[in-house]
Amino acid sequence: MSKQLTLEKEIEDNDLRITTSAPGKVILFGEHAVVYGEPALSTAISLRVFNEVSITSRPFECENPYLREIISLYGIYVNTRTWGDLPVASGLGSSAAYSVSTIAGIEYIHTKRLDLMKIARNGFEVEYNAQGRASPNDTSVATLGGYVILSRSIHSGFMWRIEKGNIFWNIHKMKLTPLKIVIVYTGKPSKTGEMVALVKSLYEKYENVRAAIKRIGEIVLEAVDLIKSNDLDSIGKKMRENHELLRKIGVSNSELDNIVKVLSRYCYGAKITGAGGGGSVIGLLREGASKRILEAFRGSGYTLYFVETGMEGVTVEGFDS
Ligand code: PMV
Repeated sequence: MSKQLTLEKEIEDNDLRITTSAPGKVILFGEHAVVYGEPALSTAISLRVFNEVSITSRPFECENPYLREIISLYGIYVNTRTWGDLPVASGLGSSAAYSVSTIAGIEYIHTKRLDLMKIARNGFEVEYNAQGRASPNDTSVATLGGYVILSRSIHSGFMWRIEKGNIFWNIHKMKLTPLKIVIVYTGKPSKTGEMVALVKSLYEKYENVRAAIKRIGEIVLEAVDLIKSNDLDSIGKKMRENHELLRKIGVSNSELDNIVKVLSRYCYGAKITGAGGGGSVIGLLREGASKRILEAFRGSGYTLYFVETGMEGVTVEGFDS
């Protein structure tokens, strides 16, 4: 489908229809530390949500909590038909990709352009209201694509600031070299709320946990430089160090550690991605390792995804003919 297709196309029933897409994400470095104001580095992956968005004049009962929030935010009735290769409920940002691609469709129908800042802000509001809590990480990556840094301080690539109550996040976009990543999804949902609460209690008690959080923040910025120079060995080393620190702050377990250990045989480095306690592990792939990794995890019941990073953010795919 062409991006050039014109907007002025109404189909028979007068619904306006548009197809958009948005990427999923992985957190490469900095999960949990970001809760304490340290930076986190995430990237858009080559798994996407595609979304046919239509604005309709016919009212309907909406069961999807994200779409319900979008309908209430815009005060219009919206239908979506969604497909793609991004799995749901696996910590890869599928709800953010859905919300952002829906909002982008509505915005484009109204204004014939994509105002990324508005889409990212509205996407965050929708996630926040639908989930009861959220950081703007996933919706920022789904909107901007590439590599995204969230931090309290301002670095190069600063885009905008998002605030909620008395918390704020500075959002940065960086164009860095694409990496080849394997994601091993355990099938067990990552326990974000529980893990954040656990780290909080340890953070308040133990100096070494506070030091680990601080060190994770440093690793994020060191990793950005290493990705810039495509130093895969050193990026892998930082992943291993970041994983050790995540263990120290209590969010790993023997199952996740074992996945990291297996991946480390075939990858430059591996670590938990996201909250931990379940969810997924990522590895930075060595050339030609995919087959052996598939072999190593055969029969494990885990789902493996081989992805590229730094992919395009939300985009208009075109209109249905
Ligand atoms: O599991 P995910 O992808 O939702 O990541 C959670 C990341 C945390 O740093 C643990 C929490 C947060 O809100 O940033």
